[in-house]
Amino acid sequence: MSHSERGGALPSLGSGCIYLQFLPVLPRIPIDRGLRTLAALAFALLSAVLHAADVDPRLINQIEALKRLKDTDLEARPAIRQALLRVLDQVRGQPVFVELVRDFRLRDQNAALLEYALANSAEASALDALRALLANEGSELLKSALTNAAYAGRLIEPLGKTADNRGAPLLLSVLTDPSQSVVHRRAAVQALARSQEGARGLLHLAASSTLPADVRLLAATELNSVRWKPIQLEAARILPVPAAKGDAAMPPTAELVRQAGDPRKGASIFRRPEINCIGCHQAMGEGTDFGPNLSEIGTKLGKDALYESILDPSSGISFGFEAWAIILRNGDEVYGLLASETEDELVLKLQGGTLQRLKKTEIANREKQTQSIMPAGLQANLTAGEFVDLIEYLASLKKPVPP
Ligand code: HEC
Repeated sequence: MSHSERGGALPSLGSGCIYLQFLPVLPRIPIDRGLRTLAALAFALLSAVLHAADVDPRLINQIEALKRLKDTDLEARPAIRQALLRVLDQVRGQPVFVELVRDFRLRDQNAALLEYALANSAEASALDALRALLANEGSELLKSALTNAAYAGRLIEPLGKTADNRGAPLLLSVLTDPSQSVVHRRAAVQALARSQEGARGLLHLAASSTLPADVRLLAATELNSVRWKPIQLEAARILPVPAAKGDAAMPPTAELVRQAGDPRKGASIFRRPEINCIGCHQAMGEGTDFGPNLSEIGTKLGKDALYESILDPSSGISFGFEAWAIILRNGDEVYGLLASETEDELVLKLQGGTLQRLKKTEIANREKQTQSIMPAGLQANLTAGEFVDLIEYLASLKKPVPP
């Protein structure tokens, strides 16, 4: 059935009157019963047209008329409320659903708004749904949705794009929830940096040393480029972006990753005494057995992760390579990797690779460190080009493929 055919059948149902009930003149019409009859007719019609795959222009008119009634007090006008709910039922899942809920400030559609945002997370209209949800005191609902990994993946980025300050506490709860994956926590950092409240929250975590280590570098990069000057200045002080040689700013990792380097130059940088990678790592049978052996690091880590492991070594400390600080009864402190432990003895591996045995009876206190033994800031001795060469070299260190 074409529109014109359907249109031809309509006037007999009195379409002119149907429009009336949606127009602003409505509040002046006193007869409620007549209205209800009209509403019933209108929606019999509406549902008929909605069964067609394409949207009928008539429905669009109905919606437009409804939109003009958005300041109506729905409590006092149950007929309009009823009409609105029927239309909402028909347009659930379409952007106009979100518009109507928002414009009429409906407070009982939060679940549907959430459903909409989840189903359309890549669309701009998801932002409207989330804003409406935040305006409707939907924070609790959103917060519990964010604890579901699949939902979090679809909500974090759009929530950031709303730049709505009311989203900040929700994103902070993702960021500080250790059960969230690092992917989600990183997305939360980026989302937080989009609103002033969010950026402030990030800064606060950094200032109170509660910012998770594996997102520190990302938070530094994000916060040092926010547009709120006081926040940016404070970030430069407490969470500076690592610099390159000669105090030049190191370009963002995303940019470095795209550059190709010279692995041969990188190999010689790896051996330079002032950088001293070789003083703590072995690669291809050369170097010191202290930190992880890097002979196959290019298979284990992508370039992104390789950059990060140097810019921010504490962000992802390799299992078994955590640093320990041991305080002895005589007051001395020993600092190193825990090589082995028995009932009455600890063996620490010190920087340089030597082993130190400690009797447990000598030990007053032991504490696992959250900072890596690998120093941060090694790239400060490199130009951006040298850094790219070094990473190219590490990326080339691959597990041999069997012939
Ligand atoms: C003082 C010793 C020390 C120096 C110097 C050092 N590292 Fe490390 N490095 C470590 C330790 C210990 C770890 C393991 C703990 C961690 O992951 O932070 C590590 C981890 C790494 C990792 C991650 C390894 C993995 O398996 O995930 C890479 C890559 C790396 N270092 C590269 C380098 C490069 C390149 C240099 C020179 C620019 C360097 N390191 C200098 C001690 C050092």
